[in-house]
Amino acid sequence: MQILFDGDPGIDDALAILTLLREPVEVLAMSAVVGNVPVETGFRNLRDLAALAGREDIPVFRGAERPLVRDYVFDPLVHGVDGLGGAKLAPSRAPEQTEHAAVAIGRILAGAEEPVTWVATGPLTNVAMVLALDPSLAGKVRRLVVMGGSTLRGNVTPAAEFNVYVDAEAWRAVLGSGIRPVMVGLNVTHMVGMRAGDFTAAERIDTPVGRAAGTMLDYYRRVSGQENWGDPKLHDVVALLGAVSPELLETRPAFVDVETGSPLTYGMTVVDDRAPAERCNCDVAVDVDAEAVKRRMIGALRSY
Ligand code: BDR
Ligand code: CA
Repeated sequence: MQILFDGDPGIDDALAILTLLREPVEVLAMSAVVGNVPVETGFRNLRDLAALAGREDIPVFRGAERPLVRDYVFDPLVHGVDGLGGAKLAPSRAPEQTEHAAVAIGRILAGAEEPVTWVATGPLTNVAMVLALDPSLAGKVRRLVVMGGSTLRGNVTPAAEFNVYVDAEAWRAVLGSGIRPVMVGLNVTHMVGMRAGDFTAAERIDTPVGRAAGTMLDYYRRVSGQENWGDPKLHDVVALLGAVSPELLETRPAFVDVETGSPLTYGMTVVDDRAPAERCNCDVAVDVDAEAVKRRMIGALRSY
């Protein structure tokens, strides 16, 4: 399986990346998008995570600095100012790629010999840009698995989940691109929370990767506790593993649209799971094997 990873690292993005880099798949490239942190910070985190994982052979690209239409407002609460909850990673020494992610990913997709699996764990700005530059590239995508949205309530506002809220116009563009994404929303990612035993297992890993993951998880746990969010959720790890191992997710076809006009519900994913088959434009995750996801992630962290 050939994979493209796009994200905004971010603690759960970082855990997803460290998991991905131990999966038996070929990672063609990773790209950073504005979201949890400004893109420059996300780009640096992606590069340093690749170095931490010993995978500097994978090209890392810097993507969109701002959403397609709206302004970007940085909020360091959930992931910290550095995006990694204070985990200090050794700086990557790989030569820095200067090609913009939207161009680079388009080039890679155009040249791919087989359809590619694309995972997006941040706002969909880069994905929308690639498809705007060359809509025919939709045909080169085997599956696009996105963390975002919800069939229930949101997290940034009662209506909107963070990744969609940052760039609802990008989500709308992707839903209209001809690709039929797999939407991994809060309704399933909230089933995958880190419990006390999971923390103990992860924090026992005394390696550079284990210590970095331990710092990130500890920060994540403290914020979740302080904000009364319950067990810290592994949103992006669910999407990543759902892309690599589709059997971990149960999905249902639906017609999904995104609110972009209303100030009250901007970024809300409106999911019609009663739409006729010919209208469905999305496969919406409705259940997940939560224990398997956590086992796989902790196993990957332990394997470094
Ligand atoms: C999503 O928002 C970010 O904070 C996480 O990294 C995840 O991708 C959850 O709403
Ligand atoms: Ca993310």
